Amino acid sequence: MQRLTNKRILLGVTGSIAAYKSAELIRRLRGAGAEVQVIMTHGAEAFITPLTLQALSGHPVHQNLLDTKAEAGMGHIELARWADVIMIAPASADFMARLAAGRADDLLTAVCLAGDIPLALAPAMNNRMWRDKATVDNAKKLTSRGILLFGPDSGEQACGETGPGRMREVDLLINDLADIFQVGSLTGKTVLITAGPTREPIDPVRFVSNHSSGKMGYAIASAAVEAGAKVILVSGPVALAAPDRVELVKVETAEQMLQAVQSRMPVDIFIATAAVADYRPVQVAKDKIKKQDEIMALALEKTPDILAETKARFPEVFSVGFAAETHDLEAHARGKLIKKGLEMVAANWVGEAAAASGGTFGSDTNALHLIWADGQIELPLASKARLARSLIEHIAHHYDDCQRKGFPKTNNVVNLKKPGKPVA
Ligand code: C5P
Repeated sequence: MQRLTNKRILLGVTGSIAAYKSAELIRRLRGAGAEVQVIMTHGAEAFITPLTLQALSGHPVHQNLLDTKAEAGMGHIELARWADVIMIAPASADFMARLAAGRADDLLTAVCLAGDIPLALAPAMNNRMWRDKATVDNAKKLTSRGILLFGPDSGEQACGETGPGRMREVDLLINDLADIFQVGSLTGKTVLITAGPTREPIDPVRFVSNHSSGKMGYAIASAAVEAGAKVILVSGPVALAAPDRVELVKVETAEQMLQAVQSRMPVDIFIATAAVADYRPVQVAKDKIKKQDEIMALALEKTPDILAETKARFPEVFSVGFAAETHDLEAHARGKLIKKGLEMVAANWVGEAAAASGGTFGSDTNALHLIWADGQIELPLASKARLARSLIEHIAHHYDDCQRKGFPKTNNVVNLKKPGKPVA
């Protein structure tokens, strides 16, 4: 399996004789399934040409911070947002010093400061420079900030001396990078996520719907991509852009969502975050309904329960439901786990209880109570992006558990009510 499939690597190349090795590194990273963009410092240009790295990476090489044309295209903030990881190979002593000092006076240091993603350095320098107290202090400073140091290795150096300071071998660097993505990894898995509300038409201009913004589902889709999964996002109408590298399937009604989901089954993991309208008009008027009496009754029928029906038809699919509750959160969530035959339920407060904790429909934060057959955990209030990453880690962990031990015995789907029962 390609260990870096889907991963976006931003490779920084600085002024060291080892810069010639970055050509091979780019070729091997792409061979491992990664997309690679390159930033070169001016020092690096003395050792290797941008044209070489452009040809190998398949992207223009980024060189300047204060270049209006480049900033209008993919500027330093966009580059930092684009990447899953930044790796500087080779990282010179001078670059380490500038990064340790928190400088942002060239494109590469600016991107490193702007990136909220893993940052790894593969130092390469003369062994005396590596052992110098200034470099030792800088290396300590960098690792204390969570920056990873890959190498350096020891051995014969370009200057003829022997000792520590050689850039780590390309094969080992690729292993080190792949290890960053291993925790909670969904590499090679297909994950289908429903998100947003559904709209159930009353007539050509009106519908029954709800306030779901889709933000949680979209954040989970991004987190699943980050974890290496192939992601299908079946979404009701929302005002959000499709996350990168996701297959987006747009639907309007619960019935369309059910068809979109089931026609793509089986997948490895199904996460139902959609706030599906519970009821729909029994009849959809062909023409716009005219205003008449003071009171108007609308006959509604239940929509299909997409999650429960799909789990009943595809029991082998690891399925995660959401439960939005105003009271007795755990009891209701556990009820849903059993009734719908799920492996996990992510429950959250809605209404006044949610407002008190800062998470409501449309907000950028949320907290979750994650429940499974023989356990539970609180995921405290956090941005939906952070919460989604944590949720995906837990899901990946329990998915692996289930694969090893088999699915827990709670998966008995009881009494699935058929849609179509009108209510007043
Ligand atoms: O039963 P309840 O609506 O509270 O269950 C919520 C969970 O079931 C959510 O995961 C939601 O996406 C899913 N659901 C569904 N189809 C429905 C109603 C809920 O998939 N018609």
